[in-house]
Amino acid sequence: MSETKKTIKLRSAEWFGTQDKNGFMYRSWMKNQGIPDHEFRGKPIIGICNTWSELTPCNAHFRQLAEHVKKGILEAGGYPVEFPVFSNGESNLRPTAMLTRNLASMDVEESIRGNPMDAVVLLVGCDKTTPALLMGAASVDLPTIVVTGGPMLNGKLNGKDIGSGTAVWQLHEQVKAGEITMHQFMSAEAGMSRSAGTCNTMGTASTMACMAESLGTSLPHNAAIPAVDARRYVLAHMSGIRIVEMVWEDLRLSKVLKRENFENAIRVNAAIGGSTNAVIHLKAIAGRIGVPLELEDWTKVGKGMPTIVDLMPSGRYLMEEFYYAGGLPGVIRRMGEANLLPHPDALTVNGKTIGENCAEAPIYNDEVIRKIDNPLIADGGICILRGNLAPRGAVLKPSAASPHLMQHRGKAVVFENFDHYKERIIDPDLDVDENSILVMKNCGPKGYPGMAEVGNMGLPPKLLAKGIKDMVRISDARMSGTAYGTVVLHVAPEAMAGGPLGAVKDGDWIELDCANNKLQLEISDEEMKARLAARAAQQEPPKSGYQQLYIDHVLQADEGCDFDFLVGCRGSAVPRHSH
Ligand code: FES
Ligand code: MG
Repeated sequence: MSETKKTIKLRSAEWFGTQDKNGFMYRSWMKNQGIPDHEFRGKPIIGICNTWSELTPCNAHFRQLAEHVKKGILEAGGYPVEFPVFSNGESNLRPTAMLTRNLASMDVEESIRGNPMDAVVLLVGCDKTTPALLMGAASVDLPTIVVTGGPMLNGKLNGKDIGSGTAVWQLHEQVKAGEITMHQFMSAEAGMSRSAGTCNTMGTASTMACMAESLGTSLPHNAAIPAVDARRYVLAHMSGIRIVEMVWEDLRLSKVLKRENFENAIRVNAAIGGSTNAVIHLKAIAGRIGVPLELEDWTKVGKGMPTIVDLMPSGRYLMEEFYYAGGLPGVIRRMGEANLLPHPDALTVNGKTIGENCAEAPIYNDEVIRKIDNPLIADGGICILRGNLAPRGAVLKPSAASPHLMQHRGKAVVFENFDHYKERIIDPDLDVDENSILVMKNCGPKGYPGMAEVGNMGLPPKLLAKGIKDMVRISDARMSGTAYGTVVLHVAPEAMAGGPLGAVKDGDWIELDCANNKLQLEISDEEMKARLAARAAQQEPPKSGYQQLYIDHVLQADEGCDFDFLVGCRGSAVPRHSH
């Protein structure tokens, strides 16, 4: 037995380690599952936090995944206990899975702290499950390892590859432009999602999987191995072995999640052309573990990093090719060799640094993982915008935008909310042309509780019919990581919280200048004040239930949309007995 092993006092012993009334109670009920007495004598108890649900199709294969994690835990001398938590399924949950990200994180935090476990494996996949589980686990700070469910195989339509989500946006625009029939559109349905797993584009799920790996919270290659590839199950098994070792090393999440790891992740997000949702989720995770992270860090750290992963929606390929090309370790190796990885010495859960893990990672395809001097986009970092329209910031994803629109001045066409947009955009008499800027209000965290992914507003059908493919769009909403366009998102403060976005009127001039990080509404300060004062009266009627809690406590996008009362780490101290 190693020295550390002798000195580690297992947390689970507070439940199972005493020969008295309490120990009797904790063990006796567990024994109804057929657990022999010797399992309670000093083995690390490892929680497997499972977001399995048939309503979260991306995570529907997780019971099988958990079985492989268990094999690894048992092999390493631990005892696995699998438990369910709220599962945020992006495709089914309405009004948006983001509404319940914080709810799930509370579930995770309290489940871990209140139960007999010494460490936890987080089974994550679909977009919000990754941040929700990392947030909850960060607020407890036990040894923690992430196992992702993996992406779906490539979608197929008429012999060609199509990407999750991205194909929906593209094909639907083609229907509206009269290029394909509704029948042709519908025939893509089954082929787009033809295996277990998460969206196969570099959408939010794949992005967050890459974030978890670049933060150092998973084993190398966790992000990209396809869900149905047997090597995904090997990785789950190895993660089970590793989490037991982490208990004896007392390698808690806070020892891994340092400021340096977040800086690496920000740079990796630029390299992969990752989702804008990562800006919100990384901030929320950082807030839980106590790492300072500001919107400006995305400019300071991310600026100048080329996008070298050529995946949809920004590029051509899908996650399957990404794995076969070398996966995230290949990307990190390229970054390291070009001195573009800010902290190669950042620690990861396998006990090695991220630099050590990736130094010799093979790269098999320079089209998918491009060379640094042949990037998809020269500067792929998330662009942070500020100005009188977004005093607390807004974001734009350069790799998904049209270069000719990233410096643009246009007249606003304003929608008061998403319903108003839907009703007005199809009006053939709408005063709009390709130089207009579409502005939508009241879709932020409070305005459309949960901050739905409606920011990539579809273009007016009459412009689509003219062959227009992109326009500047501005809102306080989010957008799916699978979407694209010159889309300004996360405007903060949001309109519903009294932000200046609420003041914009039809015909106002707006200037977007990505090179200079500027988003300006061309009206005077006095005019802005007067318009906002006139607006202050209109508020949504109060709701009840969880939505009310959400509206009352959600922080703005620049602060990660966590609840004000959830920020921070509350630790893993064992609570009082229940009897
Ligand atoms: Fe679940 Fe995309 S809908 S990962
Ligand atoms: Mg998504």
